[in-house]
Amino acid sequence: MFNIVVMVSGGGTNLQAIIDRINSNEIPNTRIAAVISSSRKAYALERAANNNIPGEAIVKKDYESKEQFDEALLATIDKYNPDLIVLAGYLVIVPEIVIKKYTNKIINIHPSLIPSFCGDGFYGLKVHEAVLARGCKVTGATVHFVDEGTDTGPIITQKAVYVQEGDTPEILQRRVMEEAEWIILPEAIKKLSEAK
Ligand code: GRF
Repeated sequence: MFNIVVMVSGGGTNLQAIIDRINSNEIPNTRIAAVISSSRKAYALERAANNNIPGEAIVKKDYESKEQFDEALLATIDKYNPDLIVLAGYLVIVPEIVIKKYTNKIINIHPSLIPSFCGDGFYGLKVHEAVLARGCKVTGATVHFVDEGTDTGPIITQKAVYVQEGDTPEILQRRVMEEAEWIILPEAIKKLSEAK
């Protein structure tokens, strides 16, 4: 069995896409061992509970120091012994001790075609606002390995999505999710599970 831990901060639609593909056996021999959230309020935790997946919130402000938070996060991840850690809308910088221990075992979904519109400050709606402000006609999503930089790790897969006339950042965000993110993130997990 290929064990994954999914890390989230928000709504968890990407988490849901992974759950659905596992349940329909499109990603065989794979299970989500746990969902770890940076916030107690993330709806993604409810999605985990609805699917009998253990959910944990490791919240930065609960810890006195960054070191204590980093160690708590690493200990929580270690508990589930993951073959792969999937960042699915996780908005906290992954601590170096986690990246060092899980080199080439952490992937992230980013809602643009890297190297465009990525790096510091490019998250959530800000990405799509910048795409529209630049007048791009094509955008998309990227799944990449996570290294010490922000969105700098090796690219695993990408999918392009057309920008359409009249798009708002919200409309474009939704289309990028539907046409790219929810497809390529489960695909990347399947590929990596087969390569185990
Ligand atoms: C997605 O756009 C993802 O690419 C980005 O954060 C968003 C998460 O959405 N990193 P959700 O929580 O999976 O619905």
